[in-house]
Amino acid sequence: MVKEMRSDLNPFSLSKHNSVIIKFAVSFLLVGLAFRLLISGSFRFSSVVETSIPANEETKPESLMASLPAEEPASNDFEANKSQNSQSGKCDLFTGEWIPDPSGPFYTNQSCLQIEGHQNCMKNGRPDSGYLYWRWSPRGCRLPKFNPKNFLHLMRNKSWAFIGDSISRNHVQSLLCILSQVEQAVETYHDEEYRSKIWHFPTHNFTLSVIWTPFLIRADIFEDMNGVSSSEIQLHLDELDKKWTDQYRNFDYAIVAGGKWFLKTAIYHENNVVTGCHYCPGKNLTELGFDYAYRKAMQLIFNFITSSGHKTLAFFRTTTPDHFENGEWFSGGTCNRKVPFKEGEVNMTDVDTMMRNIELEEFAKAAAYDLKKGWF
Ligand SMILES: *[C@@H]1O[C@H](CO)[C@@H](O)[C@H](O)[C@H]1NC(C)=O
Ligand SMILES: *[C@@H]1O[C@H](CO)[C@@H](O)[C@H](O)[C@H]1NC(C)=O
Ligand SMILES: *[C@@H]1O[C@H](CO)[C@@H](O)[C@H](O)[C@H]1NC(C)=O
Ligand SMILES: *[C@@H]1O[C@H](CO)[C@@H](O)[C@H](O)[C@H]1NC(C)=O
Ligand SMILES: *[C@@H]1O[C@H](CO)[C@@H](O)[C@H](O)[C@H]1NC(C)=O
Ligand SMILES: *[C@@H]1O[C@H](CO)[C@@H](O)[C@H](O)[C@H]1NC(C)=O
Repeated sequence: MVKEMRSDLNPFSLSKHNSVIIKFAVSFLLVGLAFRLLISGSFRFSSVVETSIPANEETKPESLMASLPAEEPASNDFEANKSQNSQSGKCDLFTGEWIPDPSGPFYTNQSCLQIEGHQNCMKNGRPDSGYLYWRWSPRGCRLPKFNPKNFLHLMRNKSWAFIGDSISRNHVQSLLCILSQVEQAVETYHDEEYRSKIWHFPTHNFTLSVIWTPFLIRADIFEDMNGVSSSEIQLHLDELDKKWTDQYRNFDYAIVAGGKWFLKTAIYHENNVVTGCHYCPGKNLTELGFDYAYRKAMQLIFNFITSSGHKTLAFFRTTTPDHFENGEWFSGGTCNRKVPFKEGEVNMTDVDTMMRNIELEEFAKAAAYDLKKGWF
């Protein structure tokens, strides 16, 4: 199992028009990060690129926007600081800084039942609590505190899905912790390994899903629950994982993300033929590099999203940088930071940079294609 779990944020300019919708996702991601702080107390942030890839007639962002109450405090606050943004009409939610927040977290290990034993820092004896008192402050505009009541109200009859690896799971847990103050979710589904789940909020008829698909493409994985592998991962670079694509059209909103699992040893298949591998010494296969597979995966994913019939508003979250320093989680890396990084305090690793560049490049290609078709 990838121990590496973090949220991340990064520069991406948004038009005002898209901002309201995007803000919801950002809230989650930030909240996810807060949750990361809560459970690990050590992290780093870098980049989220999000996009809305809109949709058919009834669920265009415009109509979603129109469904928001005019006095929705979030959107007002959001545009409150016009001094810097009135001309461009843009607010970059993803560039900013972490600032102290004396109001503290939405939930504690007492109020939230979704915190699992191994994530329960306080219970596990973490002595400090300063990590709970931070919030994200975008440069030049104010991001209001996430309002679970408003959120559930706006999301009546709607569904969200978090699709990806353990970071997506963390986001869902965090969101559940927050929303449960307004309404307790009922778990209506789990898979055999309790990795993919669905919750329903009966009063609001809101459905929340998490789908475990760490590669997003078809992968045969031979790992037990402790992450011990009995055989190499077999990755099919020309097939998406049906676990999420079969359900995708049911979702009003989807946050798709992956990344770290591509660094593992894997045998690559294309057209049902083994074409190479990543990190498989002794196998007499061509080392193609994780970047080869990751690019193929991105192409498949973005192609699917842009041609899927467009009901779902999709967000793509870019990969997360390492949070262990001076080594990996399995090789003596340390993980003892207590406060967020300041700008310029840290550089992304080469691997993280590579992954991120692939994401941005393939995203840009997909966006340009969409633009040409007039969907944006
Ligand atoms: C919450 O954390 C406190 C320590 O801060 C611990 O004493 C308590 O057992 C924890 N409660 C739960 C339900 O995990
Ligand atoms: C508004 O923007 C100005 C100029 O960037 C900045 O100095 C100020 O702190 C901002 N105010 C708020 C409330 O964010
Ligand atoms: C939710 O769906 C029900 C049944 O289709 C409908 O009666 C109700 O008006 C919907 N509520 C909202 C807020 O869309
Ligand atoms: C709940 O929402 C779904 C759409 O997501 C709708 O089909 C269904 O009728 C709603 N149920 C109720 C009881 O409003
Ligand atoms: C490795 O693969 C190549 C090409 O498939 C083959 O010619 C060669 O004999 C193989 N070497 C070993 C040691 O199996
Ligand atoms: C990050 O990289 C730049 C350029 O190589 C270097 O000048 C800078 O000192 C590095 N910063 C840190 C914190 O390592």
